[in-house]
Amino acid sequence: MRLILPLTLVLIPFLACAQKPAKLQIIPEPVATTVKSGVFTLNSATSIAYPTGQKDVELAAQYLAGIVQPATGFPMVAKGTTAKAAAKNQIFFELNTKKIKQKEGYLLEVGSNGITVTVASGAGAFYAVQTIRQLLPPEINAPTIQQSINWTMPNCTVEDFPRFQYRGLLLDVGRHWFPVSSIKRYIDLLAMHKMNRFHWHLTDDQGWRIEIKKYPKLQQVSSCRVQTLVGHYGEQPEQYDGIPYCHYYTQAEVKEVVEYAKKRFVTVVPEIEMPGHALAALAAYPYLGCEGSGYSTATTWGVHEEVYCAGKEDMFTFINDVFAEIVPLFPGEYVHVGGDECPKDRWKECSNCQKRIKKEGLKDEHELQSYVIKRAEQMLAKYGKKLIGWDEILEGGLSPNATVMSWRGIEGGIAAAKAGHDAIMTPTSHCYFDYYQSDPNSEPLAIGGLLTLEKAYEYEPIPDVLTPTEAKHILGVQGNIWTEYIKSPDYLDYMTYPRACALAEIAWSPAEKRSWDTFKGKIPAHFERLAAYKVNFAKSFYDVTPAFSEGLVSLTCNDPSVQVRYTTDGSAPTNVSPLYTQPFVLSKSSVVKASTWRGGTALGKTLTVNYLVHKASGKAYTMSKAPTKFLGGDTYGLTNGILGGSKTWDGWVGLVNRDIDPVIDLGAVTAINRVTTHYLDNKQSWIHPPRSIEVFVSDDGKNFRSVGKKAIEYSDNTAAEIKTIVISTPNTKTRFVKLVATTTGVIPEPFPGAKEGAWLFLDEVIVD
Ligand code: ACM
Ligand code: ZN
Repeated sequence: MRLILPLTLVLIPFLACAQKPAKLQIIPEPVATTVKSGVFTLNSATSIAYPTGQKDVELAAQYLAGIVQPATGFPMVAKGTTAKAAAKNQIFFELNTKKIKQKEGYLLEVGSNGITVTVASGAGAFYAVQTIRQLLPPEINAPTIQQSINWTMPNCTVEDFPRFQYRGLLLDVGRHWFPVSSIKRYIDLLAMHKMNRFHWHLTDDQGWRIEIKKYPKLQQVSSCRVQTLVGHYGEQPEQYDGIPYCHYYTQAEVKEVVEYAKKRFVTVVPEIEMPGHALAALAAYPYLGCEGSGYSTATTWGVHEEVYCAGKEDMFTFINDVFAEIVPLFPGEYVHVGGDECPKDRWKECSNCQKRIKKEGLKDEHELQSYVIKRAEQMLAKYGKKLIGWDEILEGGLSPNATVMSWRGIEGGIAAAKAGHDAIMTPTSHCYFDYYQSDPNSEPLAIGGLLTLEKAYEYEPIPDVLTPTEAKHILGVQGNIWTEYIKSPDYLDYMTYPRACALAEIAWSPAEKRSWDTFKGKIPAHFERLAAYKVNFAKSFYDVTPAFSEGLVSLTCNDPSVQVRYTTDGSAPTNVSPLYTQPFVLSKSSVVKASTWRGGTALGKTLTVNYLVHKASGKAYTMSKAPTKFLGGDTYGLTNGILGGSKTWDGWVGLVNRDIDPVIDLGAVTAINRVTTHYLDNKQSWIHPPRSIEVFVSDDGKNFRSVGKKAIEYSDNTAAEIKTIVISTPNTKTRFVKLVATTTGVIPEPFPGAKEGAWLFLDEVIVD
């Protein structure tokens, strides 16, 4: 220890003039890296060599040649070799399963004379190539020759292998179809981030998008809808574009995509939805449904009640025929059969379905759904395939060998793992990249929710409650892009990146290596790579994140090197608006606008927040049941000074079939005249108004007396609306304010979700 000081003093002058080793900024973070001094420079004489006869490694080596060519113009071709070590100025791939134990792992050693990549498989070589790509200047991703770039990379050692075997991204082509070129790009980008599964959601109510030769009407009818909803689902009056929408992939195109994916070590997981999300198929072959007629391909979103009839044999014949055609197209081990969101209304009324329930000794319609999935599993097993389904396949009994995709939370994954089944985690809270990623008021239309890059990054796929043995059943994670509102390749890029970068790190990097601080430090460099690749990624990373507590507003940005400028008078911030340096007092309700700047240029979007300053803002409260899901990360959602909005459910405080009953401590006896609150009425989304709102006061927090109550008239209105309730409490002095909003309870007929518990959404208890 004592030696450190003099040694440091001696080294300082030396280090000051030596080349400082660069910090590697690789996404996903590798297992271990060591940076050394010096660089390797790629030039027109650099060669690439792979072990002769090793086809998979050759594939990765040729891929490297292919990706460096466009930007460098170097005429690279990988060549087979029997040599045991790298020649000078060579990128040398070595296959050594003794040295590299993990199948997808690699050891990358970059030195000034050459690069050695040691792998156990072609996949490992491919991932080493992706790391090399990130060690090079970002311009390496450009599609055309880049002049005056030194193609250097720091000398270093990277030891790496994935944490999870399943690292996936889903693309829904049922709601909106994307051309084969976009699908290939989607695969290129996910593979660039070391992900290895492309979940292709091929059929849904709004379109059947894969050619099945035995059923030509799937092409003629099911691939078409007559028009498409405009605007957000639930908006009234509904509007449609009047434009027919017809698209499907031929089997030749599917083969082309699967081959393309294979060259990038990506397995395609096809999804054929059953028994729900089947309306497009029923439109072509109505005998597959319970009623047998009257179906048309859906033109709007949501969950449709028309599903396959599980009573007749026809559906099973159809599904078997479909499997017979798709199995040869997809060499991967899995076929996904959906299984989600299958309303049981039609089955309850159908004599065939009821007969089936009786004959098979099933308890109810949930067991009938389970019966369908079990038969699908048996069919797939005959074709040598395994079944995956969404977590609803747990209801009514899990099929013997099914793998569960846990989406409605993590509970499905937990239940599957505890039952000894494999699971893939993709909870809406962290993996639904169709959600907003920043303030919805400044974002293009999305389905709802709020899933920021930071939140996506926070996700830990192994639930605490699992034992190490159970945890082995969590095969990995997946991000999902549902495309109700995603119509163009550009917008697809925007919603996928950079959130998929966060997912890639969750899927690949060791848990102990994950750090939001490190990750966000790498983002600017990674953005340069994505920009060179012409990815239309979202830049919400540079947006301002607001917080409001105890009358103080703070405005922060993920990148601390940028300037935050703001106004409090409603005007747009400019490059000379006040510079934010520390939290500031807001003494009255104000519109705060803020944006980030570098060198006089605005970076992110302008944030607008309408802060309410009132007697309860920033004050703590308790509730008999505190919600966890809709708090939006804020401990005091009801008193945080921000109203819940109409575009996202974040900011609202919500509970299912429970009263919302905050007791707010004002801190001291305070004169109050009025309590105002808001609720969301959005029956399409199972969110119903409260039956009544009552205000109570108390000086000791124990004995309360009512000071005002309003009953709320229940309407049939299904348009989403935010309603305001004001309860006057003139000349009241109190320390504690309690508000009770009573739940609707169970959703009444004929609203969506009837008989299920209704959500109650309340926000901001404004005390004046
Ligand atoms: C799903 O989001 N319905 C799986
Ligand atoms: Zn039926």
